[in-house]
Amino acid sequence: MTAPLIDPFQRRIDYLRVSVTDRCDFRCVYCMAENMTFLPKKELLTLEELDRMCSSFVGLGVRKLRITGGEPLVRRDIMTFFDGMKRHLDSGALDEMTITTNGSQLARFADALYAAGIRRINVSLDTLDEEKFARVTRWGRLPQVLKGIDAAQAAGIHVKINAVALKGFNEDELLPMTEWCAARGMDLTWIEVMPMGDIGNEDRLGQYWSLKDVRSALAQHYTVTDLPDRTGGPARYVRLEETGQRIGFITPLSHNFCESCNRVRLTCTGELYMCLGQEDMADLRAPLRDFPGDDRALDNAIRAAIALKPKGHDFDYSRQRLDGQMPRHMSHTGG
Ligand code: GTP
Ligand code: 5AD
Ligand code: SF4
Repeated sequence: MTAPLIDPFQRRIDYLRVSVTDRCDFRCVYCMAENMTFLPKKELLTLEELDRMCSSFVGLGVRKLRITGGEPLVRRDIMTFFDGMKRHLDSGALDEMTITTNGSQLARFADALYAAGIRRINVSLDTLDEEKFARVTRWGRLPQVLKGIDAAQAAGIHVKINAVALKGFNEDELLPMTEWCAARGMDLTWIEVMPMGDIGNEDRLGQYWSLKDVRSALAQHYTVTDLPDRTGGPARYVRLEETGQRIGFITPLSHNFCESCNRVRLTCTGELYMCLGQEDMADLRAPLRDFPGDDRALDNAIRAAIALKPKGHDFDYSRQRLDGQMPRHMSHTGG
């Protein structure tokens, strides 16, 4: 039996988030600058290397894999990777493989994703208004994403919606979005905007809409019941009794959930980040490439990296300052 991955704070690491590309076809204002420079393609791990990397983590006890980006579905030939990873689902080594996507390519990929064993996906959608959608993504087309969501549901994939809570932007859509998701049998998770990446002149503090306020606003219209923290993820959930749906809150600022963190993040260049909000990282590309036929060096490098996992992030708006700002973009670490 291989020993599980346990960090210095006795947290078991069984969840790997993998960014397969830093590119995206949108430029959400809280995520990327309009004129982002992307990595040269030769810097990226190849699909074979991504497979080997993920398989090593699975061998070391990772049970859940979430594929992110940028936008994972804009990576060329990405289905080859998913099709390959399916063997770990079939063997029972992996409990789940999921993706977080902006939905723009879903209409094309939904059936293939289902065939590769993907049963749940998260789609990022901050507004149901076409004009606002084009503004927040800088040029995205809402109907294309809605078509993608329909295709995913028709393929049998369970869709959860993620919305970043933005003051003065989607505050007025709290009820319409809740109802829209309820009508489609979808859960909805709200995310507090995090100070990631230097994205120009965005007003992060001005945008920050505490999810405590979101919860109170919902409670004025629905009967809100707290659900126990059993997802192993950062979201805390409530149920709206009138609709039966779950509403999640990801609150890194107003309630940090680091003490139960179960995850690490692999970038598309093979760096392993131990925390979304800290710089601690390890280069896994060198041990991967230096020993092509032998995974022992890679496994050892993964174990050594887990031993560096910090206690938590330092994001903090409470002093009305952007404390703990992280220069790295979300699209680099994969959300
Ligand atoms: P699970 O994978 O089931 O836990 O779902 P999730 O909602 O965490 O996944 P998703 O990729 O949809 O995450 C949505 C967003 O939540 C991410 O893009 C991040 O912005 C944020 N998030 C997820 N995990 C963490 C975390 O460990 N720390 C912080 N600060 N934010 C996170
Ligand atoms: N703060 C919070 N969430 C963010 N995302 C991207 N940038 C930020 C940020 N600065 C979210 C997206 C998507 C996921 C991949 O990350 O909305 O749901
Ligand atoms: Fe692309 Fe997602 Fe970032 Fe928006 S939040 S720019 S869709 S990676």
